[in-house]
Amino acid sequence: MTPFLSSVVLAAALLSAPSQSRTLFKYERVQLTREYVASLPAEEAELFAFGDDVFTEAAVNTTAPRCRYGPEDGKWPSDKAWTKLATKLSSSTALIKTVPQSSVCYGATKNDAKCQDLTTNWTNSYTHIDDPTEILSPIYQGLTCIPPTIYDTVNCTIGGYPAYVIKATNVLDLQLGINFARNDGVRLVIKNTGHDFSGKSTGYGSLSLWTHGLKDILFIDSYADEPSYKGPAIKAGAGVQAFELYKAANDHGVVVVAGEGQTVGVMGGYIQGGGHSPLSSMYGMAADNVLSFELITPIGEFITANSVTNSDLFWALRGGGGGSFGVVTSVTVKAYKDLPITTASWTLDSTKIGKDKVYAAAKAFIDNSPKYADDGATYSYWNLIPSVDGKGVTFIMQPFFAPNKTAAQTTALLATFQSKLTSLNIPFSPKVTEYKGFYAAWQAEFPLEPQSDVQTAFGSRLFPRSNFASETGRNVTFQVFKDTVEAGQVIIGFTMAPTLARGGNADNAVNPAWRSAVIHAITGRRWNLPSTKSAILSARSSFTNGTMQKWRDITPGSGSYLNEADRLEPNWQQSFWGDKYTKLLQVKSDWDPKTLFWAVNSVGSEGWVVESVDGLPNENGRLCKVNGTSVAAKAELAKAKTLRAF
Ligand SMILES: Cc1cc2nc3c(=O)[nH]c(=O)nc-3n(C[C@H](O)[C@H](O)[C@H](O)COP(=O)(O)OP(=O)(O)OC[C@H]3O[C@@H](n4cnc5c(N)ncnc54)[C@H](O)[C@@H]3O)c2cc1C
Ligand SMILES: *[C@@H]1O[C@H](CO)[C@@H](O)[C@H](O)[C@H]1NC(C)=O
Ligand SMILES: *[C@@H]1O[C@H](CO)[C@@H](O)[C@H](O)[C@H]1NC(C)=O
Ligand SMILES: *[C@@H]1O[C@H](CO)[C@@H](O)[C@H](O)[C@H]1NC(C)=O
Ligand SMILES: *[C@@H]1O[C@H](CO)[C@@H](O)[C@H](O)[C@H]1NC(C)=O
Ligand SMILES: *[C@@H]1O[C@H](CO)[C@@H](O)[C@H](O)[C@H]1NC(C)=O
Ligand SMILES: *[C@@H]1O[C@H](CO)[C@@H](O)[C@H](O)[C@H]1NC(C)=O
Ligand SMILES: *[C@@H]1O[C@H](CO)[C@@H](O)[C@H](O)[C@H]1NC(C)=O
Repeated sequence: MTPFLSSVVLAAALLSAPSQSRTLFKYERVQLTREYVASLPAEEAELFAFGDDVFTEAAVNTTAPRCRYGPEDGKWPSDKAWTKLATKLSSSTALIKTVPQSSVCYGATKNDAKCQDLTTNWTNSYTHIDDPTEILSPIYQGLTCIPPTIYDTVNCTIGGYPAYVIKATNVLDLQLGINFARNDGVRLVIKNTGHDFSGKSTGYGSLSLWTHGLKDILFIDSYADEPSYKGPAIKAGAGVQAFELYKAANDHGVVVVAGEGQTVGVMGGYIQGGGHSPLSSMYGMAADNVLSFELITPIGEFITANSVTNSDLFWALRGGGGGSFGVVTSVTVKAYKDLPITTASWTLDSTKIGKDKVYAAAKAFIDNSPKYADDGATYSYWNLIPSVDGKGVTFIMQPFFAPNKTAAQTTALLATFQSKLTSLNIPFSPKVTEYKGFYAAWQAEFPLEPQSDVQTAFGSRLFPRSNFASETGRNVTFQVFKDTVEAGQVIIGFTMAPTLARGGNADNAVNPAWRSAVIHAITGRRWNLPSTKSAILSARSSFTNGTMQKWRDITPGSGSYLNEADRLEPNWQQSFWGDKYTKLLQVKSDWDPKTLFWAVNSVGSEGWVVESVDGLPNENGRLCKVNGTSVAAKAELAKAKTLRAF
């Protein structure tokens, strides 16, 4: 290419740069600068310096400690250092020393009324989301402080909770936290809402960055990311939750692709891990709709990642998973004109029609998954629930969600199902409701889901449309679902098709298994309380290697949704990312060669492991390098050969 040509190409690139790419929120304009760090006394500058030297050969050569420091290590930052951090943050209350909320149930801090209140509210997700350190899967915190009538922990200890939390109100707070943790060898975690199924938003001995308070939302009439997109967009802060985003979109007459769950943090783990939505069969995954990210990198720099700037990160952040590449502070997504919705819901219960008929009805519905997901562009949320005595079963549809369809069109789409039920002599009268727009439909139809189970392992699988192409395939698939329910496990099914043809984008890190899927199904195996360690491990083994292996056996080459996955998922790299993993690992080593950001089963996490104190899979233990020549060590060495310049 001649110099002349390349400058033309460059000019074209500048012209087509997303015009809104650097529209920053007020909280994004409060930043840490290298000049400021340089102006600090040496002792402080050392604590808060940017991490430019991670890309030098010297950094690769230093004999790093095997584990991130914990509070009982000599090299843990001194109280003085923590105080320096506290005073640099933008608010005097921003640095929070962890006090588990259930400490009101134990020891010197016992308060019966407060403990009772917490116990009553335990399954309400808001109880945990609005707490600085609580997560919704407390099993992975290590269950060291829970209200005793729910799970008696005898004492209240900090276990896998972080040591400190920064309640961030701006970019500066997050940069200070990132630099402090990296420079002092402290483990870093990010908590947004704590919804993650595998406990990725907590960790023993960590400094946690809490993004929940970053709530700004901006509607953009016309966002240009040409040639691929020109139209309305919404830029939302990392802490914005589904109920807030949908309301803001509705106020502007638009819809966005976000989750069914009311309290999920849309711009944190949800969208970075893919994000399925009631609109996914129409517009793809949430990650397919991202136009731009603002984020802070592992070295502490605040940057933009979009189609023209840092496009390798832009690619990876759309599906590569939260907590891996940096701390995202806001995301700009496409918005679409609002559209009418029709929903249908029903419950078929074996106490009324007998078990065989409930299974027959469920099979009739599931057999038609491609019709609903592909042809109908719908999203349905269904459950198959065994009764407690194991003798019965219920098939609940809550709801069948049909975007841009009238009641008549929806009923027509369900006609084959309806006539099958009639032929089986199953009385069927779904509740069909027409809504003028998305927001009212979403609000009315998706219930707040209960949380904080202490005795179940969950896992999921993506079922491709090819499973439904033949009668044999349909029979085999349903038989596996039925066996799961007969073994006492609930199935939470989502029928949808985020295909490349409708809204999907092949050029991002979303698990390719989503593109051929028509069902995303979750199940869980419960154990009794109390259970010994070996009983729990054996229940988990029969779940992961029993039930879930049967699911994998009938879906070869497919995968699992990383945001709603088994913490013990085997071969998770293939399962969560398929052939995208190689490139993801490259992006990870380019931006985070020292694995500052680590979360279980995340990109590049192979070289490290939590050495949990009780031997169960959880965050209650030090994060240490795997002994021997690890993948991470190899990546660091490879990196030393292609040093980045600053
Ligand atoms: C009740 C419930 C309903 C759900 N509904 C849906 C649904 O409808 N569709 C769907 O696809 N999924 C759904 N999920 C799964 C959901 O996508 C994941 O739990 C997801 O991880 C939530 O992201 P979060 O940021 O809210 O949670 P967190 O647990 O706080 O974070 C999840 C991960 O992302 C990282 N992270 C968080 N914020 C940032 C940030 N700003 N920058 C970088 N990394 C970050 C964290 O470190 C962690 O690794 C649901 C889960 C639950 C429990
Ligand atoms: C790194 O270590 C190797 C082997 O000990 C040594 O040869 C090399 O000079 C070191 N490089 C730096 C930059 O310290
Ligand atoms: C807990 O529940 C009680 C009553 O059920 C309610 O008054 C209280 O506000 C709730 N607390 C929280 C933190 O949700
Ligand atoms: C509770 O604390 C006591 C005293 O510190 C200790 O001996 C005991 O092992 C603890 N129990 C649990 C379950 O952690
Ligand atoms: C919704 O349906 C109308 C016609 O009924 C059609 O014109 C429009 O393109 C549809 N919108 C989408 C997003 O499919
Ligand atoms: C599928 O299952 C039905 C009902 O059990 C059975 O009648 C049919 O023969 C099966 N078909 C195949 C191809 O296995
Ligand atoms: C499943 O089996 C594999 C291979 O035997 C084993 O390594 C793994 O630990 C098992 N998983 C669980 C959860 O027991
Ligand atoms: C790794 O080695 C260290 C000592 O070098 C040891 O303390 C630790 O237990 C080992 N970890 C594992 C998982 O074998």
